[in-house]
Amino acid sequence: MWNGNFMRLDKYLANARIGTRSEVKKYIWRGQVAVNGEIVKKPEQHICESTDIVEFDGERIEYSQYQYYMLNKPAGVITAVSDASERTVMDLLPENIGKGLSPVGRLDKDAEGLLLITNDGGLAHKLLSPKKRIFKTYYVECAGAVDDADIEMLERGVDIGDDKPTAPARVKLVERTAESCIMEMSISEGRFHQVKRMVEAVGGRVTYLKRISIGALELDGTLAKGDFRKLHDAEIMALKEMK
Ligand code: URA
Repeated sequence: MWNGNFMRLDKYLANARIGTRSEVKKYIWRGQVAVNGEIVKKPEQHICESTDIVEFDGERIEYSQYQYYMLNKPAGVITAVSDASERTVMDLLPENIGKGLSPVGRLDKDAEGLLLITNDGGLAHKLLSPKKRIFKTYYVECAGAVDDADIEMLERGVDIGDDKPTAPARVKLVERTAESCIMEMSISEGRFHQVKRMVEAVGGRVTYLKRISIGALELDGTLAKGDFRKLHDAEIMALKEMK
């Protein structure tokens, strides 16, 4: 009986991001793919996702419907799936990995740091919903004197010219001089240029911005700018468990 678990071998391999549909066909014809220990050379052969063991070049394929990657976004690329003129964050992922995935939330072109990229729309919605109050933390370097009263204002919520003031931020002062300040600022909303506008509202100007966490997910400090990796199972679980 058809139960929805069967699909063509080439489609399965493409879904598992082994390659594009035409690339995986070539791999199959070349004998690089085995099903239950037997080389299969027919891309149209149907396999059962839940019971068949599929190997590519001798490695078992672990296929899951949802994919989760973290990217250490460099400055100079825009957060979009595609764009006619600008380089996007998705251009940093190979085509067979990025296909069907989207960045969760937005980092400005000049901002760096943690960007989650996934096809799990439910999780993305939860992480972005202001009602869920999931804090995103930014490392912020500012020009201008930001004093204790300014920090208290940020922690209460500030008027940035929208219909209502921002929700309270959490602020950890890292370093301060008479004309500059470094802080870690956590916000639970995702308004346009929110951190920059909040800092401006207290008389400062952001000179460098990097996101270092989204809720329970922290930027992997070993990822160079522009590099990405799959989320570990524990990281996915931690994000899913956040209420
Ligand atoms: N706040 C900003 O101002 N810019 C970002 O990219 C993210 C948060």
